[in-house]
Amino acid sequence: MTRSPGTSASSETDSGLGEAELENPAQASAGGNERGIEESGRSDRPPLRLLTCGSAETGKSTLINRLLGRQNLTERRAFIVADMLRHEHDTSNLVAGASKADVALLLTDARTGIPSQTRRHALIASVLGIRRMVLAINKMDLVGFEQAAFDATAIAFASFARELGCKTFAVFPISAREGDNVGSRSERTPWYAGPCLLEYLQDLEVNADGKPLRLPAQRVDAAKSGVRGIAGTIASGSVSVGDAVAVVPSGNVSQVKTVVCAGAEVQSARVGDVVLVTLGSEIEVSAGDILVAPRARPQVADQFAAHLVWLSHDKLLPGRSYLIKLNCNTLPATVTDLKYRLDLNTLARIAAKTLAIDEVGVCNLAVARPVAFDSYDENRTTGAFILLDRYSNETVAAGVIDFALRRATNIHHQDITVGKAARSELMQHRPAVIWFTGLSGAGKSTIANCVESGLHARGVHTIMLDGDNIRHGLNKDLGFTEVDRVENIRRIGEVAKLMTEAGLIVLCAFISPFRAERRMVRELLPPGEFIEIFVDTPLQECIARDAKGLYRRALAGEIKNFTGVDQPYEVPESADLRLPGDRERPDTLAERVIEHLLRRQILV
Ligand code: ADX
Repeated sequence: MTRSPGTSASSETDSGLGEAELENPAQASAGGNERGIEESGRSDRPPLRLLTCGSAETGKSTLINRLLGRQNLTERRAFIVADMLRHEHDTSNLVAGASKADVALLLTDARTGIPSQTRRHALIASVLGIRRMVLAINKMDLVGFEQAAFDATAIAFASFARELGCKTFAVFPISAREGDNVGSRSERTPWYAGPCLLEYLQDLEVNADGKPLRLPAQRVDAAKSGVRGIAGTIASGSVSVGDAVAVVPSGNVSQVKTVVCAGAEVQSARVGDVVLVTLGSEIEVSAGDILVAPRARPQVADQFAAHLVWLSHDKLLPGRSYLIKLNCNTLPATVTDLKYRLDLNTLARIAAKTLAIDEVGVCNLAVARPVAFDSYDENRTTGAFILLDRYSNETVAAGVIDFALRRATNIHHQDITVGKAARSELMQHRPAVIWFTGLSGAGKSTIANCVESGLHARGVHTIMLDGDNIRHGLNKDLGFTEVDRVENIRRIGEVAKLMTEAGLIVLCAFISPFRAERRMVRELLPPGEFIEIFVDTPLQECIARDAKGLYRRALAGEIKNFTGVDQPYEVPESADLRLPGDRERPDTLAERVIEHLLRRQILV
């Protein structure tokens, strides 16, 4: 049977090789590890950005050296090579490289078939938007240029690539060391009828943009002589003087007055250009808005479904507040529902509560306010985002948007006649959440209980929420894994907030071991309504007290995920009040809380 790499969908061959269109690059933050060799001169095509994947033993550098060497001779097209996967866990580099790559060049050893590492690379590359893949089956010389060895791997790859939704793929039987089918066709593979790898890559069509304008406003300059400049990189399409443009999410329409590109005024600019645009009429534009073609507007929503590649050693915690960077916007976002994880070898959907480093999952996200975006299938730039940790600023995930969720669109806020202010006016105090955090056995509930007695005696309307009690009711489905603790605090935060709307002072006693969730509750409430009290009792003292006998069991390994034993407690960095739980009696400490509430004018 004769093999050739497919070059168009219609020419799909029996080895299952096919092609369709390609999109433009996704956004990502970090700079890549590019080994860029750009040849301009006589090249008649735009440069091709390659992302090489596969382990070192597959002969990747031998191949690249040979390709670039040959390419310098022909100069028909420049290649920019990013080799991202020298390290098994260097995924942030991968994201940076993949964000711009046109093609993933996967290398495998003819003797080993497709190792799971290569599948993993292919999956990650596809999630990051590379829909063209080339598999070079290397070391054909070591299998005697046998067609059967090639076929087996090529067919396995074809079905894998199809399942990935990969639109173009091609497979080459090569020997990087000896040069077969790299820079020229080999006579040692008479059964292979396709072009050599270099020829294929030089002819690959990648530059079809043809998409409507998307210009995310990275910066909006102060009005100069009454006109504001909008600066950014054109993510797709083109913009010309006189064009009508809409600003999203607001939807206002205006006309392009001037376009400045590379320091000069131009008539029009296109995808990839960094521009400064001014508009004819003065409409409201802020950084993070997108200038778009009025007839082809993006979606605007505050919830969407997405694929995520998890990049952090800290696991994904659904319900935790991260920062999303999407089209020049940076705002809080949470994964509201992790639907499943993808098995890297079989692409099977696996039920999951979290994602670990390098895992790929499908989830729903909620962002703090409606934002404009496209689905990633429509636009690789405006449909891609990254997630950051809010404390370390580390990039924890790269994601692509599948579709907007409309669930939020049809739910409106019901106006209620008697509001929070009216309710609390009936009380002789202001509503607030008094949040006690600390180790198990630190004395949180005991002190909170004393505070509540004191408040009650003053005629203050209170409610007490306590870990052990809530876990018998509302949160009885939750355990003590990190994922469950995040959800525990998220629900309690919402409940506490509702109770402040009733005008109450809400006393909360929860270990709440993570800073991120304590901060999340703080941010749920208006400024000044969340009072964080750190009941600071040293672990040794809590172990010595061990009122519930839990530490003894945890230290004996009978209880897993016990705070302070085999799960961390993150000490508050800026608690409103710190109580030395081992030095003073609970009623004395409770007095200090009440004094604090008086000082803060929550009590009058
Ligand atoms: S939190 O971490 O999610 O805030 P929460 O305050 O609701 O915890 O519940 C803590 C209480 O559950 C502890 O006071 C203790 O009685 C009990 N408990 C049972 N197992 C654990 C555990 N693994 N870690 C901590 N507390 C536990």
